[in-house]
Amino acid sequence: MPVAPKRVCILTGGGDAPGLNAVLRAFVKTCTERNIEVYGSEDGFEGLIQPGRLVKLKPSSVRGILPRGGSILGCSNRANPFAYPTRDKRGKEITVDVSETVLQRLREHEIEILVMVGGDGTMTHAKAFMERGVSVIGVPKTIDNDLAATDLTFGFETAVATATWAIDALHSTAESHDRVMVLELMGRYAGWIAMHAGIAGGADVILIPEIPYDIERVIKKIQQRGHNGYSFSIVCVGEGARPIGGRVSTISKGRKGHLARLGGAGQQVADQLKDRVPHEVRVTVLGHLQRGGSPASFDRLLGTRFGVRAALMCEARQTGEMVALRGLDVISVPLASAIGNAKLVQRDGELVQVARHVGIELGA
Ligand code: F6P
Repeated sequence: MPVAPKRVCILTGGGDAPGLNAVLRAFVKTCTERNIEVYGSEDGFEGLIQPGRLVKLKPSSVRGILPRGGSILGCSNRANPFAYPTRDKRGKEITVDVSETVLQRLREHEIEILVMVGGDGTMTHAKAFMERGVSVIGVPKTIDNDLAATDLTFGFETAVATATWAIDALHSTAESHDRVMVLELMGRYAGWIAMHAGIAGGADVILIPEIPYDIERVIKKIQQRGHNGYSFSIVCVGEGARPIGGRVSTISKGRKGHLARLGGAGQQVADQLKDRVPHEVRVTVLGHLQRGGSPASFDRLLGTRFGVRAALMCEARQTGEMVALRGLDVISVPLASAIGNAKLVQRDGELVQVARHVGIELGA
């Protein structure tokens, strides 16, 4: 068994996800038990870029945080060390590579292992630092559940529960007013949240990025419901959904090294339905409500399991790997296998078949 490190650092990169605090709590408790000192980097990489933003984490720092959403360390999807946004002399926004500052900070604080909790973007940074000689360990996180290297990510279950609650709530008001309610849900280019919540909430139509839709089928479904005596419909739209031959709706392009902001897919569907169905069509964008709030018990448990595993990997210096869930087991996989490997809803997979069997229209 190799000698355990004296000091490690953990950060929560990218957008937040319910369950991050469970990871931090379990990681700090397990490391401390093993005499490994833990530092936390505030706001993702920001703490390793800006001075004075590395904090010592002790068991007392993580007491009582299991039911709390977000991350006590803060998150940032702005702090990309390889494309860090700043301004040039003329005030124009540019991005610069500040990875050398991160390396310097790690050396100064004698940090032996850097643990990064994040999604695809953070894992890409983890690999880049690994190639520069840093010992890294990854912990997967995203409400989108779109990382192929792990069967599930924490945060997804809570997001699905919130989205299902929203579908339930929309049902009664849709019925009272004979309306078509369009609900736009997060998930980026993966339709997991829309699919799971749509089936669990009994949506009439689910449109996901993996299945570009034909609006005529959606119109037909709503009309058919009318003939069957149902004067309302619930249409769930994943934010990455698009019509056949059309484009994903974006709010902004995203600066160099950063992702585009998606939004508007629900409104796009509503615009196409307007005047084609005998109902008033209204749009709800659930947005960041899906990322906020107290984590579901499943996410607290998965986060705790991931946090303990990451600490044990630190102790064993099992670096260059990412924690993952395979079936019912927590395992670790090579970091490289976790990058650029998106897990999408299969067009003819079991989930899609189930939706079709219970009469949900998928738009194609
Ligand atoms: O990846 C998680 C996620 O919530 C996506 O579902 C969504 O598109 C995106 O992040 C929103 O990011 P931001 O909070 O930066 O707008």
